[in-house]
Amino acid sequence: MKSPLFEVRITSRLETKFLGITFPNPFLLAAGPPAANGAMIVEAFKAGWGGAVTKTIALEPTEHPSPRIYVIKAGRDKRGMIDIELFSDLPLDRWEKEIDMIRASYPERPIIASIAGGGSPKEWQEVIRRLEPHGVNGYEMNVSCPNFAEEKKGEKLGQDPEALELAVRWVREATDLPVIVKLTPNVTDIVALARAAAEAGADAVTAINSLSGLAGIDLDTFAPLPTVEGISIFGGYGGPALKPVSLRCTASIAQALPIPVIGCGGIAKWQDAAEYLAVGASVVEVCTAVMWNGYQIIEKLTKGLELYLDKKGYGTPTDITGKALPSIGTFPDLDLSVKLVASIDEDSCNGCGICVRACASGGYQAIEIDDKLARVDFLKCDGCGLCVGVCPLGVVYMVPRQESETFQD
Ligand SMILES: Cc1cc2nc3c(=O)[nH]c(=O)nc-3n(C[C@H](O)[C@H](O)[C@H](O)COP(=O)(O)O)c2cc1C
Repeated sequence: MKSPLFEVRITSRLETKFLGITFPNPFLLAAGPPAANGAMIVEAFKAGWGGAVTKTIALEPTEHPSPRIYVIKAGRDKRGMIDIELFSDLPLDRWEKEIDMIRASYPERPIIASIAGGGSPKEWQEVIRRLEPHGVNGYEMNVSCPNFAEEKKGEKLGQDPEALELAVRWVREATDLPVIVKLTPNVTDIVALARAAAEAGADAVTAINSLSGLAGIDLDTFAPLPTVEGISIFGGYGGPALKPVSLRCTASIAQALPIPVIGCGGIAKWQDAAEYLAVGASVVEVCTAVMWNGYQIIEKLTKGLELYLDKKGYGTPTDITGKALPSIGTFPDLDLSVKLVASIDEDSCNGCGICVRACASGGYQAIEIDDKLARVDFLKCDGCGLCVGVCPLGVVYMVPRQESETFQD
């Protein structure tokens, strides 16, 4: 495999201690194709990743369908990605060698083994017994893969609090290393599952694995996508579109329980990671953004977070962990007396009319084009904020109502 030109020098600025493990930075490869074997994890470590969660290792390897990945686009923009693969296609004895190989060049860099079993203790405990002598730092239990049909496998296990508790106890019995449970968003109440994991002895939870989804339908053949000879399955949805769901899951667990949380889902920029920290995560995992941009994306992630922490005067990344949580409330916490109205920067508006159409059909019919400029009728404007979101130039702002009580002139 082609190596990056330089091995990135890691500074201690972003060092993060979590579960007794020292990560050089809080960015971990999530379990998935970027961590599919030892050589790939070594490349990631060279590029500067703070740690890696392996592709999920089980007693028996799984076979991959082809194709198994479908990128969801809006125009030319990539919004998300559906995959229909299961666990690692490498057998357990091969993983023992892969981990030895990583350890030969990176004796210290944290490796979390993503492991999976089913409804018997042996399936979990045997994997741990085999991997532990090779120097992994902890385990992430994959009870959240959305692509299995069998009972007590993948997310079926992670959707049932009693079955989950049992599996976590089996893993807890088998190791003194940190045990992390990777949760599925495909449940009604993710906090209940996080609580079950905590009560059974898990040290942390990861929020979240992929959301169950169907990529689309080929309208010529009516074949679901991605199609394997005309057939597909509900797959796992990840990438940028998943972020609001994952942030909500991370925040709701962090608000309800003392268990530490790893944030995962749609992280592509340092700002995404900082937001996860702010809603309670201690470290983060990244999959889709690495698949789309390469391991080198870590340089922008670490540099950006470093500059942000410096600018804001924070020490370590976890200094911002949970900072946003006190402000995440429920509807009764909202002050309904606050009334804003839209205001358009006339010098920058090009009169495209997008805000006018949006307001006419999804707002309060408060914007008109007047002399090639969008103008707001402040008496009609209800302050919903839709026009701010749809303006392609970013020249619409919300201002307090009392400052502007009549038609903008
Ligand atoms: C092709 C593919 C394979 C994946 N395989 C695994 C896996 O083996 N184990 C696991 O826990 N998660 C797996 N995931 C889920 C990711 O680890 C991650 O939870 C999810 O993609 C959301 O993060 P992202 O938006 O950064 O991709 C996989 C994701 C993709 C796209």
